[in-house]
Amino acid sequence: MYQTSTMPSGAPSDPVASYGTLAFADSSAALAQLGRYTADLKRLVRERDAMLSQIEQAHINSLTLLSRAAEFRDDDTGVHMERVGDLAQLLARLMGRSEEEARMLRVAAPMHDIGKIGIPDAVLKKPGRYSAEERRIMNRHTIFGAEILGQSDIPVFQMAADVALSHHECWDGSGYPGGLRGMQIPWSGRVVALIDFFDALTMDRVYRPAFTDEQALAMLGQERGRKFDPALVDLFMAHVDQFIHLRGEINAAARDHGALLRPDAAWLAADLGR
Ligand SMILES: [Fe+2]
Ligand SMILES: [Fe+2]
Repeated sequence: MYQTSTMPSGAPSDPVASYGTLAFADSSAALAQLGRYTADLKRLVRERDAMLSQIEQAHINSLTLLSRAAEFRDDDTGVHMERVGDLAQLLARLMGRSEEEARMLRVAAPMHDIGKIGIPDAVLKKPGRYSAEERRIMNRHTIFGAEILGQSDIPVFQMAADVALSHHECWDGSGYPGGLRGMQIPWSGRVVALIDFFDALTMDRVYRPAFTDEQALAMLGQERGRKFDPALVDLFMAHVDQFIHLRGEINAAARDHGALLRPDAAWLAADLGR
């Protein structure tokens, strides 16, 4: 490369000096080329990241809509989903999870019942008690949900799949589908189980009016160490004012399913703390 063909005529006779000059000239050209490659590469990485972010956003939005469809079939208004996300995020922060995990849970938690989309109306909407067979069918919404959400390698969906699968497991091992107990249950599922229980009790349902906060807290206390992680129940009780306040803010803002959709990648990035 550095041979005589590139040697300018009239070059100094000292071969070492001329080699040094040429090497310098060549290396600055190479550096410039390298700079262009680096800039190109950075641009490609940026474009790839933006595209992945858009795909993730579209994926979250479509599965949020599917969760909404599942909730609508269960006579829900949609604000419950929103509250479960926000309140679960607060409990995750209080239990000392990282900010990234807490934000992911806010996105993942509202999808916990997405598997109800696979449950026939005759079972889902049946008033009164379930037969053993109907109960078995209904319980499969956890597995359906994990199958839908677990298709994706994106971390937020992995968390959402964990939540869908484990949000009916009980601390004492009496839950479903796995009969997991204690710390075998993923932290995300333990959080969402508690939040979902409290929020569902304190809202009107077609088959009963809302329980008061006092009644719901008493019921939560009764399930301490049975359905729910006792440490999480204690944490919730100790900060119950914060939860009630946050719930009030969500209700006052009259947010609905639309608020769960991320209109652009920047919003999603902010939601996930990127
Ligand atoms: Fe559920
Ligand atoms: Fe729920």
